[in-house]
Amino acid sequence: MGKEGISRRDFIRRTSAAAGAAAAGKSILLDAEAAAASPRPVPAGDTLRFGMIGIGMRGSSLLRTSIQLPGVRCVEACDLYDERHVLANSIISGVTRETVPTTRRYQELLENKDIDCIVAAVPDHWHMRIIVDASNAGKDIYCEKPMTHHVSEGFRIIDAEQKNNRILQIGSQRRSSIIFAKAKEIIDSGAAGDVRLVEDTMGRNDPCGAWVYPYPPPPALSPENLDWETWLGSAPKRPFDPRRYVSWRGYLDYGEGIPGDLYVHLLTGVHYIMGVTAPPERAYSAGGLFQWKDGRDYPDQMSTLYEYPNFRLMIRVTLDNNSDEVIRFMGTRGTVEIRGQQVSFSPQDGKDHSLCYYASSYPAKIHSELSKAWEAKHPDVPGTARPLEATIYQAPQGYNESRQHLWNYFQSVRTRKPSVEDGTFGNNASIACHMANYSYFKKTMAVWDGDSKTIRG
Ligand SMILES: NC(=O)c1ccc[n+]([C@@H]2O[C@H](COP(=O)([O-])OP(=O)(O)OC[C@H]3O[C@@H](n4cnc5c(N)ncnc54)[C@H](O)[C@@H]3O)[C@@H](O)[C@H]2O)c1
Repeated sequence: MGKEGISRRDFIRRTSAAAGAAAAGKSILLDAEAAAASPRPVPAGDTLRFGMIGIGMRGSSLLRTSIQLPGVRCVEACDLYDERHVLANSIISGVTRETVPTTRRYQELLENKDIDCIVAAVPDHWHMRIIVDASNAGKDIYCEKPMTHHVSEGFRIIDAEQKNNRILQIGSQRRSSIIFAKAKEIIDSGAAGDVRLVEDTMGRNDPCGAWVYPYPPPPALSPENLDWETWLGSAPKRPFDPRRYVSWRGYLDYGEGIPGDLYVHLLTGVHYIMGVTAPPERAYSAGGLFQWKDGRDYPDQMSTLYEYPNFRLMIRVTLDNNSDEVIRFMGTRGTVEIRGQQVSFSPQDGKDHSLCYYASSYPAKIHSELSKAWEAKHPDVPGTARPLEATIYQAPQGYNESRQHLWNYFQSVRTRKPSVEDGTFGNNASIACHMANYSYFKKTMAVWDGDSKTIRG
């Protein structure tokens, strides 16, 4: 009998063999090239010239990827650490055989009339200043996530973005991922029913993943080759400290710990897929500093339960145990699960497939009567049941969502079409990160007050 024509009993056998989950089904390779955001050749006269600010771990990768996109050139690079000028030019010359001017002062890039737009990957305590300055100087800007270091900064950024009519794109690359787009398509189609619960989990368990010093700092790093005073920016003054320079994520003055580094990716994906357009209403966090007690301010484990108007979100991230990153959208008609470079949909029909186990609490005679009644109501007619088969959608080998996200940015700059991850979107995800930390440090529920634009306990 074909799978369309199985009987209910056969169906029960198959689905219970899959341990309550949907049976293994189709696997489909997603076509990244067909995606609307996929990079395409551009006319010769349509080249965009960008300035790169911050050429550290993330910036070096953004620079390398950007200059390999059609019609995109880097014309000046900026960093406070001189060796990263060398790095920038080795990346650029490796691709184009050219070098570009470098500087410690990002303001020079904003004054440079040959620069159309900016890509910035600096520590979080510098995001607001650079976005606002770039916008006021008439430059569009791609700035890394999370958009803000403090809640109030988000509204200053949105103001500068809108007042100057600038393209601002925040660098949470999942917003442009074909995996996340497929998950959104499945959920929007209603196939998963009502999604009222989402869970996100991930874990790391190694010094590098936990930002442990040395991250590593270069042996000759000193105030001679690094402008330490400027690096501190709006943070409290303190003597040169290479630990803070490389492991800034662990300190209140520059980063936001696990939420700002890792939750933000999960939150961006969930906000995009669930169509969230405001910060969560409430958040409650628990966590602790258990393993990496190296002088950092932030915990190495955090879990947060968020309340949104129509669903709840549970995020669990630990730096004390390695586990896959999984995002699960749990609907009344099935589960959409994102795991690495794949998304699966496992349908559920939400029905009984046999007499409810509660009937075993009756004597045999009553049980048998109930059983007969149930069978009569659910006749075993061949062809009436359908197997609940999972479908797995896989990104192509080597798929790079950051490349797609950067391409989206440069296309927005070129066409003036709105950014896929503008200031408002970035602000909502950042506020959710700040709420997680507020709850953890103040040991209270964090409540978003939209009227005063503040978090309160
Ligand atoms: N989207 C992602 O997957 C992803 C991954 C890693 C980091 N990030 C984000 O990228 C940003 C940078 O992180 P990182 O790991 O590359 O940090 P990093 O410390 O490795 O690099 C930051 C660089 O910025 C330079 N810098 C600091 N302030 C500057 C200023 N005012 N002007 C010019 N240069 C300045 C530093 O000297 C350093 O070279 C952060 O916001 C981080 O959250 C995003």
